[in-house]
Amino acid sequence: MKKIVITGAAGFIGSNLTDRLINEGFFVYGIDNLITGSLDNLSHLSSDNNFDFINHDVTKHIDIKDKIDYIFHFASPASPIDYLKYPIQTLKANAIGGHNALGLAKKNNAKFILASTSEVYGDPLVHPQKESYYGNVNPIGPRSIYDEAKRFIESMTISYHVYHKLRVSIVRIFNTYGPRMKINDGRVLPTFIKQAVNNEDITVNGDGTQTRSFCYIDDLIDAILQLMNSEYSYPINIGNDDEVTINEIAGLLISILKSQSKIIYTQLPEDDPLKRKPDLSLAKKILNWNPKISKEEGFKLLVEYYKKNNLI
Ligand SMILES: NC(=O)c1ccc[n+]([C@@H]2O[C@H](COP(=O)([O-])OP(=O)(O)OC[C@H]3O[C@@H](n4cnc5c(N)ncnc54)[C@H](O)[C@@H]3O)[C@@H](O)[C@H]2O)c1
Repeated sequence: MKKIVITGAAGFIGSNLTDRLINEGFFVYGIDNLITGSLDNLSHLSSDNNFDFINHDVTKHIDIKDKIDYIFHFASPASPIDYLKYPIQTLKANAIGGHNALGLAKKNNAKFILASTSEVYGDPLVHPQKESYYGNVNPIGPRSIYDEAKRFIESMTISYHVYHKLRVSIVRIFNTYGPRMKINDGRVLPTFIKQAVNNEDITVNGDGTQTRSFCYIDDLIDAILQLMNSEYSYPINIGNDDEVTINEIAGLLISILKSQSKIIYTQLPEDDPLKRKPDLSLAKKILNWNPKISKEEGFKLLVEYYKKNNLI
């Protein structure tokens, strides 16, 4: 049986990835220090023989005695509320934690898969963003904690590939949503859903014409599973290219939830990107992958999850 290490396994994406890999017949070691994740996301696996949880901070040396075949480095606070609360921990989880995870991969000659982000493009001047775009990042701005941490660990990952011949994949994840996304993590979908369900004002930053594109978690996990076995080592965008304005998202959620909420406008945060849409041509070519779940379908699934778990 092939063995996998997932750092950040108690988080939103890490726990969904853990479930899927166990279902596919792998043994998973899930490592997490629970800084932003929760054991609730893994409680259903507590008696699963193919899962072992290790409560560990990845900025400290990672030691696993077993032979490991794949390492997924997903540990990092990811929502702006979290990384602004834990700035140094975020920089360290990516840079030092990523380096430790690469060391474990090298020791095992395992394939290393890095969760990077669309934030490496910063506030992009090119639209949509292709992997070849170098980005527009303020190296000391408020979001630099996250953006620069990911840019650094991408560079480290490629260096391990070039100098140590390690097999690597780098996934530049664009906004992803779905079950286990925290209701209070400050991101636009949970925030608007909570406001809409309570018929409170929906707070849109700026004038709401800024765009985002949202990928449902199952589509992201499909792409990650294909990347596991791909020989392609350079960054690859994964997301959904259905670009929507924040105003449209508010309107759609008001209609799904049959809400009485009104939209009000607040100040746009510093360095908030105005446009965000992946160019997915590389993923389509290399992985023959396309996102399948529409925003109408996915938003309903997220609302159902929150309702079922009494979170709204
Ligand atoms: N959710 C998105 O839309 C999105 C977009 C782009 C990239 N990503 C990346 O995907 C990964 C997972 O994001 P997520 O949305 O699931 O966030 P999350 O906060 O839900 O999960 C991150 C997990 O990492 C753990 N962690 C953080 N620092 C750690 C450390 N030092 N040691 C051990 N564990 C640690 C946290 O406790 C948490 O369980 C992150 O690397 C993030 O940057 C996410």
